[in-house]
Amino acid sequence: VTTPISEHAFPTRSGDRIPIEPPLPLADVPTPALLLDEDAFERNLDRMARHLEHARKGVRPHAKTHKCPIIARRQIERGAVGVCAAKVSEAWVLRRAGITDVLVTSPVVDSARTDLIARMAREAPGLMLVVDSPLGVDRLAASLGAHDAAVDVLIDLDPRMGRTGVREAEDVYRLADRVLACPRLHLRGVQHYCGHVMHVEGFEARRSRSLEHWSHAIEICEGLEARGHAVAVVSGGGTGTFDIDSTIERVTDLQVGSYALMDEQYRVIGGPGSATLDAFEVALTVLTTAISQPAAGAITVDCGFKGFASESIAPVPIDVPGARYRFAGDEHGVLLFAPGGQSPRLGDRVAFVTPHCDPTVNLYDHFWVHREGLVHALWPIAARGCSW
Ligand SMILES: Cc1ncc(COP(=O)(O)O)c(C=O)c1O
Repeated sequence: VTTPISEHAFPTRSGDRIPIEPPLPLADVPTPALLLDEDAFERNLDRMARHLEHARKGVRPHAKTHKCPIIARRQIERGAVGVCAAKVSEAWVLRRAGITDVLVTSPVVDSARTDLIARMAREAPGLMLVVDSPLGVDRLAASLGAHDAAVDVLIDLDPRMGRTGVREAEDVYRLADRVLACPRLHLRGVQHYCGHVMHVEGFEARRSRSLEHWSHAIEICEGLEARGHAVAVVSGGGTGTFDIDSTIERVTDLQVGSYALMDEQYRVIGGPGSATLDAFEVALTVLTTAISQPAAGAITVDCGFKGFASESIAPVPIDVPGARYRFAGDEHGVLLFAPGGQSPRLGDRVAFVTPHCDPTVNLYDHFWVHREGLVHALWPIAARGCSW
């Protein structure tokens, strides 16, 4: 690769706040719009920061949820040890916005990406990668050598999820030896993210599954140390297990993402002693307008697949008791009223809890950031679409 991918892919990606003066009433925002309630969002950041500080764990928030440098900066201001990015392109945007400590949580195996990583590593320290294959280690080492750069790495452990990571202990030890043989790769520890546990409903069920997976991971950490590898970083966990994994002594930091914004998928998993997960507030909503009513008992809003991402559950209307949303195409959804229930009228605004925050955020250019009914700024989702 002679011209780095970044120069083709990102001519402009500003993450700067766009002020709205005078502030705009929510009733005047063009819909569908992704709204961020700034007070609720800040309370979520504070709660997580306090919880993990008390548990003596680092916070390494996952920026895949928000893809927004302003939010990443606020997380760092509250003491985060760095942020995570799902992909190299996401990390590139965050680093361009001045957020240097970034862990890329997906393994990289192709030379175009390892080349970009090496260029980024040369520019400023703070980049950390995960590896899970000899090919990935070798390609990374080759690119770093070509650019005279070095990076920290974690070995990605597969918690029997079958997505990424190394599953068997002996394979982990072999990969660690291979990393050690590359002077430009500094082995710092392991990543262990149990994505298949995050949404297990019921706190106790989630707790026992998470602890079981972690006990295998800790055994592997001990095995690495017995073979002379230092394991300073044990990173993993997410919103669903933040209050479970933070009790494990060996865990050093939590990669929590959704807690900052929240969505319906997470609300329904329940908390300790509650049917819904109430530790964090729904700070993210999508505002829509009721635009058509072809039949009684239902009304059509101006947001469908292009405005809500969901692999399973539906968006949940706020302040319309008993109503249900049904997808009705790319740009539309139908709100079905409960018999005798309250019904929005044509032109009314209807806000929704998003089914799944991360991929929904990825559909929008910016958050409309509001306080007390007024939007005072747009925060660019600068890394939206950065999925390579
Ligand atoms: C590797 C990794 N870490 C952390 C997270 C954050 O998880 P959550 O949004 O559940 O807090 C994710 C989310 O998919 C992830 O893939």
